[in-house]
Amino acid sequence: MSKVVVFDHPLIQHKLAIMRDKNTGVKEFRELLEEISMLMIYEVTRGLETEEVEVETPICKCTCRKLAGRKLAVVPILRAGLGMVDGVLNMIPAAKVGHIGLYRDPQTLEPVEYYCKLPADSSDRDLIIVDPMLATGGSASAAIGFLKQRGCRHIKMINLIAAPEGVARIQKEHPDVDIYVAGLDDHLNDHGYIVPGLGDAGDRLFGTK
Ligand code: PRP
Ligand code: URA
Repeated sequence: MSKVVVFDHPLIQHKLAIMRDKNTGVKEFRELLEEISMLMIYEVTRGLETEEVEVETPICKCTCRKLAGRKLAVVPILRAGLGMVDGVLNMIPAAKVGHIGLYRDPQTLEPVEYYCKLPADSSDRDLIIVDPMLATGGSASAAIGFLKQRGCRHIKMINLIAAPEGVARIQKEHPDVDIYVAGLDDHLNDHGYIVPGLGDAGDRLFGTK
């Protein structure tokens, strides 16, 4: 079964508390999402392979370590996942970016696909899906499915907030995909919103409501 890692780091929890506040405006919300994404990717990439390299400093030669192994791509689920991309790229500037366009039908809560464009060599890369909200898990499960259809096998997911329902769905349908979250919340309400959550992440990020 996939693992679920909840980041209890004080900086992440502090920033998340401000994001949850309904009085936090678009600018601050956007900045905090980028900052938390940066802090989360730092931990998510802890297990990356490194290799020894020789470097000549102004003083002498020495042995250092640099990244080795598979290259990375970050895959935001549109729209709200876009708010996490720059945080990841700040830490891993050479990562490629794929986009998966999905929105959740407000009546059925089922994901509707409208866009998918991935790096040509995605199946050779470590892929990190980013989306602030994991609610029913429908969007995330569909996104992971698209990646797997295209031969991708090394997939992780970063969410800001997850509901237990969404976590359970991913663990059942994609047990190979580890999930990293800043907050694991209580439940979904009748409209499929995470409780307590932060409301509609896309609207808060882009100011569309
Ligand atoms: C939100 C969120 C996730 C999805 C989560 O996107 O960013 O993609 O809902 O819900 P689920 O786990 O029940 O599928 P939304 O569909 O609101 O689209 P948007 O980002 O374009 O606003
Ligand atoms: N999508 C959101 O943006 N928020 C939720 O709480 C659930 C799905």
